[in-house]
Amino acid sequence: MSTRPTLRPGPLSPRRKVPREIARPSYALLGEPGPTHPPRARTPEELANMRTASDIASEALAAAAAAIAPGVTTDELDAVAHGVMIDRGAYPSTLNYRGYPKSTCISINEVICHGIPDLRTTVEEGDIVTIDVTAYYGGVHGDLNQTFAVGEVDQHAKDLMEATRRALDVGIAAVRPGGQVRDIGKAIEKFVRGRYGIVHQFGGHGIGPDFHDGLHVQHNFDRRGGGERFFPGMTLTVEPMLTLGSPDARVWEADGWTAVTVDGSRCAQEEHTILVTETGTEVLTTHVPH
Ligand code: MF3
Ligand code: CO
Ligand code: CO
Repeated sequence: MSTRPTLRPGPLSPRRKVPREIARPSYALLGEPGPTHPPRARTPEELANMRTASDIASEALAAAAAAIAPGVTTDELDAVAHGVMIDRGAYPSTLNYRGYPKSTCISINEVICHGIPDLRTTVEEGDIVTIDVTAYYGGVHGDLNQTFAVGEVDQHAKDLMEATRRALDVGIAAVRPGGQVRDIGKAIEKFVRGRYGIVHQFGGHGIGPDFHDGLHVQHNFDRRGGGERFFPGMTLTVEPMLTLGSPDARVWEADGWTAVTVDGSRCAQEEHTILVTETGTEVLTTHVPH
């Protein structure tokens, strides 16, 4: 097992600057995204901009991932992703979203999601770390995350990360126009077969002009919800979180954000932003090197 220091909230760096000329989402100033809208089909212009936003987010994630090494602080990783986004003219969507203070979410081991990058927390050999990046460009968002190993990790962590990657693929493969949103959770539940916990308190979401629109995606099977139907032009995220133990989450009181497993078991996550097409889906958050 790793000898890493216990995870706890650390001091934050000063708020990162975004150049004046970069267009900001409505919540950037006061933190409130306002009313959520029902999902609708993207216009050609929205879709073109979502491709760019998604490409920028993917590039920023890859750059942060390349900076992972034992002893590097989560704040340093956040700075790398922030730098790529502003260099490419995008606003880091999480910055001041409902008051969230940083440009990425970085979630280590038992942290499920919404870990806040800070100046004291370092990634250490044997950790698994999820980096979640969302970019806002041309009035729309693109959102993805991946879990990475820091150096050599144990076999349980390797298997968990592999299963989570496949759960994302299986979830995406369940999406087709005319199908129901609950097909995603149904397919993931069937694939996981009880081998891992499937987090149910956080889910995927419709995305576009709203970071999170009115569409909610469960990654476990939930017969009461998910009756909505997919239609061409819809854009959403699939972002399963699998755990080695309990699927139940609690949020750190100290910061109101960091979600951890109740039993301290480790969690992995993988996220893509996808488009529903006439025949199936297309993944938008794949960086095409230029
Ligand atoms: N990117 C996260 C998601 O996948 C949301 C982060 S919201 C924040 O939906 F406020 F925590 F940053
Ligand atoms: Co998301
Ligand atoms: Co995300």
